[in-house]
Amino acid sequence: MHRLKSSDTSFFSTALLGWYQNNHRPLPWKGIKDPYLIWLSEIILQQTRVATGWAYFERFREQYPTVHHLADAPIDEVMKLWEGLGYYSRARNLHFTAQYISRTLGGTFPNTYKDILQLKGVGPYTAAAIASFAFGLPVAVVDGNVYRVLSRVFGMRDPIDSGAGKKKFAELANLLLDKDRPADYNQAIMDFGATVCTPGVPNCHQCPFEDRCLANAEGTARELPVKSKKLVRKTRYFNYLVFQDDQGHTLLEKRSGRDIWQGLYQFPMLESKSLLEGEDILGMGPFSEQAHLLRVNKISLPFRQVLTHQNIIAQFADIRLKSLEEIKKSSYLMVEKKNLDKFAFPKVIDRYLHPQENLLF
Ligand code: ADE
Repeated sequence: MHRLKSSDTSFFSTALLGWYQNNHRPLPWKGIKDPYLIWLSEIILQQTRVATGWAYFERFREQYPTVHHLADAPIDEVMKLWEGLGYYSRARNLHFTAQYISRTLGGTFPNTYKDILQLKGVGPYTAAAIASFAFGLPVAVVDGNVYRVLSRVFGMRDPIDSGAGKKKFAELANLLLDKDRPADYNQAIMDFGATVCTPGVPNCHQCPFEDRCLANAEGTARELPVKSKKLVRKTRYFNYLVFQDDQGHTLLEKRSGRDIWQGLYQFPMLESKSLLEGEDILGMGPFSEQAHLLRVNKISLPFRQVLTHQNIIAQFADIRLKSLEEIKKSSYLMVEKKNLDKFAFPKVIDRYLHPQENLLF
């Protein structure tokens, strides 16, 4: 069905660019030519809605107007500015790559698709976006929007989470690309996917492909694109120990190791197979030897945070004691509770710390 000769494909970019002329979204990164800012916006926008990413982009641009500013910033500051966006490896890679560009490449952004793709944290999608937006290179972006639009218009049922499927979609995307206007074309297909050919029920009556779209003709839009693997979410239980001594101090640790939320801070934590009772949190946790000095004052209701592959159930044990000096271990940081907002936390902890602000979510 999608085995089109190049002469058959021009209808697509013509209709898409015609649509874009009248319907483009005024987004703050559009028209920017500085590859640093384009890279920054595209890293922020991966797995993030435009409405959310917009404010983060403005904050990062203001705080770090050049790649050198970002490279010279402390990583904890970058993580704090990233707080709430999720997928924190993006922020760590952003900082790493800024240092590489600033210090090894002298601030000059690579200007070929191949070299851009070598940057840490940059995959084929982001490399194509930077190559086309910053350098006008004819490389088609293939992101979730593009999979959705192409699978529907051309009735492609190849699974987008298989190597063969990805290859087919990338080939078709590059065949359809308007090589004279790659930046406009790439931006157009993303805007079109986000506003017309939307997930779930699309707005087919606003669609320039309404009469040619196979999914529309067959009523299969909701099934497309096809994925071969079912998403499995593992449930994990996190029991946080929120200490408070008479001077208003608490303990924090920085998450490290190959797990979620690397580089973010948390209260001392005990992971368990189910939520624990107060005595077990103390008896089985990292402070079991000092448990006799401690008392659990209160345990919060469970909080839930859903990640792509994990379902986190968290509870917070409020533990009072005279002085933290008695139990402090070197891996923990003693922090005044009033300074907690200086640290970057996972969303579930932020929601515990700011229950009022988070009522709407
Ligand atoms: N999502 C990712 N990149 C985008 C862009 N440049 N415009 C709109 N949505 C996007």
